[in-house]
Amino acid sequence: MHANIGRCGQGLTKIPRFGSNCLRSGFVYWQSNSHCFRRWSSFQTPRSPDTTRTIFSGIQPTGVPHLGNYLGALREWVRLQNDTTEGTTLYFSIVDLHALTVPQESAQLRRWRKEAFATLLAVGLDPSRSTIFYQSSVQAHAELFWILCTVASMGYLSRMTQWKSKLQLPDDTTLDNSATRSRLRLGLFAYPVLQAADILVHRATHVPVGEDQKQHLEFSRNIANSFNHIYGSVFPSPEALISPAKRVMSLKEPTLKMSKSHVDERSRILLTDSPDEIHKKIKAALTDSDTMITYDPIRRPGVSNLLELLGHFEGKSCQDLALEFQSTSLRALKENLASYISNHLRPIRDKYISLMDDKTGYLDDVSEQGARAARANAELTMRQVREVMGL
Ligand code: TYM
Repeated sequence: MHANIGRCGQGLTKIPRFGSNCLRSGFVYWQSNSHCFRRWSSFQTPRSPDTTRTIFSGIQPTGVPHLGNYLGALREWVRLQNDTTEGTTLYFSIVDLHALTVPQESAQLRRWRKEAFATLLAVGLDPSRSTIFYQSSVQAHAELFWILCTVASMGYLSRMTQWKSKLQLPDDTTLDNSATRSRLRLGLFAYPVLQAADILVHRATHVPVGEDQKQHLEFSRNIANSFNHIYGSVFPSPEALISPAKRVMSLKEPTLKMSKSHVDERSRILLTDSPDEIHKKIKAALTDSDTMITYDPIRRPGVSNLLELLGHFEGKSCQDLALEFQSTSLRALKENLASYISNHLRPIRDKYISLMDDKTGYLDDVSEQGARAARANAELTMRQVREVMGL
């Protein structure tokens, strides 16, 4: 019996006997051309064998989430939670370590973490059904990050777009330029490795996100495969669940996605905006000079974005909505949309305000309960990771 196994060398192939997301006690088998090796593996899991799905997703604490975050991610998280069947576990994290990849002011970050946490509860995540936690409370995320750094490809990371967009560099920027290299911090460059660690440390099978995270999900799958190829089948290959509202556009620059970083605050609707603020922002949304209402995202991105937003709330197609509003005015469309959004967001805003005003320590209790559950789950993975690596 082999107490430990090294890397899967030339001609030595791991024969997977465990389900990729089901860690159990048993023999792990390895074979070369002429020999078959085995060792005992004693990983225990509290999860039942019928476990089918583990859902993980995260959001950065960079202020109160906006409508893009909500439609692209948070609303889907709640839907997945509420539709969940037995055997599905859900983890949602405020990824505060990721926020450190750009400069932060500590008091503001502390406030933003709390605001993000309160928002997750306000939109309908239920701590009795979902594990909700701060990433920095679960050290295994950082430990696995380091381990994955040892298999992550610099070439792959250098082709990723996030570090370039954060430094406002074109997408075809390479690391050949010394000025680029000196501006780039290692944490920002390695951001996707930490994201992969978030997902893999919980052995997530499904990751609900907006379209902008697709590249990071592909990277996570790649790194899981690389690790499994070297050390044996430890991680499942996580699948992205892209929301139907995959890319909500800015109200001020409708060719760009709605984001927290746009200089004009009227470009985004925050989940805590008052009805008055929502009406003002929608009224000021950029459209073109054509007063007709048609759906044409390429030539008419502004009005098309408004139709898309309404479609996400009303559950109707943009073409049908364009026909419905054809004989009315742009003003009518905007008023209708603003009313839909403010009615939908009102209970979220009310709950958010009461959670932020709470003096009983409820948010701290929920986050501590989430951290404990997330730590326990992550530790199961780390035990296996440490063992296969010889740590
Ligand atoms: P973040 O914090 O930028 O966004 C959180 C979620 O909101 C989605 N989103 C949008 N969807 C549609 N339209 C938009 N305009 C829009 N803006 C944001 C994002 O796609 C995301 O799903 N790297 C991640 C955080 C992260 C993570 C993870 C996600 C860290 N580790 C592990 C999933 C799994 C991020 O910065 O998301």
